[in-house]
Amino acid sequence: MASLSGKVAVVTGAGSGIGREVALAYAREGAAVLVSDVNEAGGRETVAAIAAAKGRASFFRADVSRTAECAALADEAVRTFGRLDVACNNAGIGGAIAPVAEQPIEAWDRIIAVNLSSVFYCMRAQIPRMLERGGGAIVNMASILGAVGFPGSAGYVAAKHGVVGLTRTAALEYSVQGVRVNAVGPGFIETPLLAGMDAAARAGLVALHPIGRLGRPQEVAELVVWLSSPASSFVTGAYVPIDGGYLAR
Ligand code: NAI
Repeated sequence: MASLSGKVAVVTGAGSGIGREVALAYAREGAAVLVSDVNEAGGRETVAAIAAAKGRASFFRADVSRTAECAALADEAVRTFGRLDVACNNAGIGGAIAPVAEQPIEAWDRIIAVNLSSVFYCMRAQIPRMLERGGGAIVNMASILGAVGFPGSAGYVAAKHGVVGLTRTAALEYSVQGVRVNAVGPGFIETPLLAGMDAAARAGLVALHPIGRLGRPQEVAELVVWLSSPASSFVTGAYVPIDGGYLAR
């Protein structure tokens, strides 16, 4: 039987990359999926792809850096599909590349808002909806850069470390009530987030992954599905890298 049969899931940043693959995989596993993004065209393409595969999905535009829009997103899941069981808080941006002393303040504020505060705003709205139904599963998209530093990416690294801390804390608070909360730590994944990189920069990134290549968004989606399903019923508060060995060095 499909592992998410009868469940309702929300995916942020589902108009592209990892989020789109998570939405497709959730639907394949039987969930009704509320696809969300600021990119309406991308989100609607994801919904169409799910419909073409005979899954159930709907689109809701939400900017996750805005607390009211995160609350509206959780409400929309209940309005459209009747409940909320699963959430993948995935939306994120790459941010400015500059050493700490040269980082523009606005760039710092923006990446903290989109990559960290968003996860707080979304969980704050999702958890009460899940508790109404006796539990749920939340998977937050961190990064290997939730565990180690990366020169030039202070805001991104700080945000992703923050996501890991938020995940652990929410898990301590809500697991006993049936809401499991975990974080995923992808290595560098082939998505539009990495587009525009030249061949040398790309080769440099590949060299950081002992497996000898970058990851694929579908590979991350399989881990997210597992963490969202009853198959991982004893896993909570975990930070699970999926990184081709990046953190093993
Ligand atoms: P992507 O750029 O393909 O997709 C990100 C999606 O988030 C886009 O559709 C974008 O419109 C949406 N988004 C951006 N700002 C938003 C906002 N304020 N509100 C709602 N949606 C917004 O990127 P990718 O690679 O799929 O990234 C997804 C997540 O995975 C991000 O959190 C990223 O930090 C994380 N990640 C990505 C890695 C990679 O190498 N691609 C590695 C580790 C983590």
